[in-house]
Amino acid sequence: MITFENVNKTYPGGVEAVKNLSMEVNEGELLVLLGTSGCGKTTSLKMVNRLIEPTGGRILIQGRDIMAEDPIELRRSIGYAIQHIGLFPHMSVGENIAIVPRLLKWDEDKIQKRVSELLEVVGLPPDEFYSRLPVQLSGGQKQRIGVARCMAADPPLILMDEPFGALDPITREVLQDEFLDLETKIEKTIIFVTHDIFEAIKMGDRIALMDEGRLQQLSPPAELVEKPANEFVDRFLGQHRFQLSLLTRKVGEALESAETNGQAAPERPENALKTRNSLIEALDGFKNTGEERLPVYDRDKYCGMLSKKILLKMISQTLGETGSE
Ligand SMILES: Nc1ncnc2c1ncn2[C@@H]1O[C@H](COP(=O)(O)OP(=O)(O)O)[C@@H](O)[C@H]1O
Ligand SMILES: [Mg+2]
Repeated sequence: MITFENVNKTYPGGVEAVKNLSMEVNEGELLVLLGTSGCGKTTSLKMVNRLIEPTGGRILIQGRDIMAEDPIELRRSIGYAIQHIGLFPHMSVGENIAIVPRLLKWDEDKIQKRVSELLEVVGLPPDEFYSRLPVQLSGGQKQRIGVARCMAADPPLILMDEPFGALDPITREVLQDEFLDLETKIEKTIIFVTHDIFEAIKMGDRIALMDEGRLQQLSPPAELVEKPANEFVDRFLGQHRFQLSLLTRKVGEALESAETNGQAAPERPENALKTRNSLIEALDGFKNTGEERLPVYDRDKYCGMLSKKILLKMISQTLGETGSE
């Protein structure tokens, strides 16, 4: 668990980038730091691995004040991924991923094994990619290497600063989905910075919305959209409310009211929905396949069938609730 206790950061020159930030990030959750450019997201994130030091308050990891830790060791124990991932251009993909394990003096066999495993995990076959140079990669592939690198030494905590921000919308969505699949498996604590509310709702277990250095609301996505804590949050949600509330409702909920046919689980087909898919993604699924019913899975577990009829009913219910406020 990470605890921010009345954390302040005033830069030399007087900019108050973070004001009295208090919050807890729970074990295993993906917490999104959301807000417009300049609101203090990056500053808040970098204070966790001491790339920036607070001017007031304390940050605790598992109850220990990070200012009492050795900053270099601290940094090696926390995964960190940023937008322009900063791969070293003269080093191969494999060497780039191996940086922290090497610093930690892992033995060479273990490093090779870990790098290959991670390349598989992020969908880049090691045979093909291990020895490539960063210049020989697409933007999406570079970003995948960034994700692999931040997990290399298997840190319990990962900080991500707009990791998919520089990608085109389609590649971005692919990487978000891949990362969510991965995230359900690795069970890390993740702080994820974005300025994009759609990304925040898709990725976050909870969202911390900031404005001008202050935390405005810290809630699960559905609560943020349905119960904005103040006028700022309300304005921030703006005109997208309908769409946002559809994004906060998941196929898993729809399934509760759907009949399951009691038959043996079908083999997981290409077009299966995931319990974490939003109602909008489910609707896309029906549109793309032309089916009336689609099977739903939670990872590899079959959870039942969802019918288009029930989905449409739930969508109109959601819109009704949002509209009546
Ligand atoms: N090194 C710095 N020196 C002075 N001011 C800074 C520095 N870094 C960031 N700031 C200012 O602090 C505020 C918050 O910045 P930042 O945390 O980068 O915001 P965000 O990541 O939300 O865009 C901004 O006003 C920014 O200009
Ligand atoms: Mg930033």
